Amino acid sequence: MTNFAQRLITWQRTHGRHDLPWQANRDPYRIWVAEIMLQQTQVATVIPYYQRFMARFPDVASLAAASAEAMIESWSGLGYYARARNLHRAAHQVMAEYGGQFPTRADDLITLPGIGRSTAAAIAAFASGERKAILDGNVKRVLCRAFGIEGFPGERAVETRLWALAESLLPADAQEIGVYIQSQMDLGATVCTRSRPACSQCPLSNDCVAHLSGRSAELPTPRPAKTVPRRHARFAVVTAGKTVLLERRPPSGIWGGLLALPEIPPQTPLDQWLLTHLGTQDAHIQPLPPLTHTFTHFVLDIAPWHIELPAPPHAIAEAAQCWLAFDQLDSAALPTPVRKILQGMS
Ligand code: ADE
Repeated sequence: MTNFAQRLITWQRTHGRHDLPWQANRDPYRIWVAEIMLQQTQVATVIPYYQRFMARFPDVASLAAASAEAMIESWSGLGYYARARNLHRAAHQVMAEYGGQFPTRADDLITLPGIGRSTAAAIAAFASGERKAILDGNVKRVLCRAFGIEGFPGERAVETRLWALAESLLPADAQEIGVYIQSQMDLGATVCTRSRPACSQCPLSNDCVAHLSGRSAELPTPRPAKTVPRRHARFAVVTAGKTVLLERRPPSGIWGGLLALPEIPPQTPLDQWLLTHLGTQDAHIQPLPPLTHTFTHFVLDIAPWHIELPAPPHAIAEAAQCWLAFDQLDSAALPTPVRKILQGMS
């Protein structure tokens, strides 16, 4: 990829956004408030809040002097209130440590609450032309696609690589840093969008690895799926003649209120369970094919055991249990895996 920065800068001058309210001047306070609002909220939503906020708190001294309630009130609607609390704390810190002069160097900015490496670099670039890379979600997406970088960008190793790449791509001329940083934000927000990027309008497309290999939909690599916990359960399929023993589940929780197979607790030997729950060990026992059932939060590996009794016991211990004829199962409220196990037997 040649002339990465120059291509973006040229694109920015004609296609980028130039009249956003925080671009009016280089006041670091104004830029800071905008960048914090824009961390988790889109430009169109931010603009009216930003204008009201600036009218009410035109400088860091007025923000520091405001009550927490007044400041939260001006923030309300933007959400993510930790940002507002950090903003207030940072304003106090600027008054105490910088005599009310809002810092413009990234190394100072990063010491303020709510300002990370990327936000510090962005504020410094816009306010004083400091030559430091940014790496927000939009920039990560552009770099992963343009350079064909694999791996979830939230992973430490991938992120480290992206920071190094972002630093290496900065324009040499510090005069151009502000335009360049804004071009990265604008390209990611308007052209190299998450879904259906407008590659025909992108100044990088003729060298973009993702575009040239048709992998814009796969890059950046999505967050790996959470590994869901696995649980194991043994189910007792107790039959006597043409009937099967079922147990009504408690009203809440998994399979609430449905008729399921009794579960044999993990530590209990089968013959002991038989004696305790059925009052007999006179049974023919064999394993049935195992199956797996996926719930929202875990995967259940089920080992069903067929326990065939010569006749139903005279009494069953648990009140929630009942014997049901196989030909009544169709109309019974059974969880899917229970139905599958019983259907496999007939
Ligand atoms: N997103 C984050 N910072 C931004 C900015 N300065 N302009 C537009 N979008 C942004």
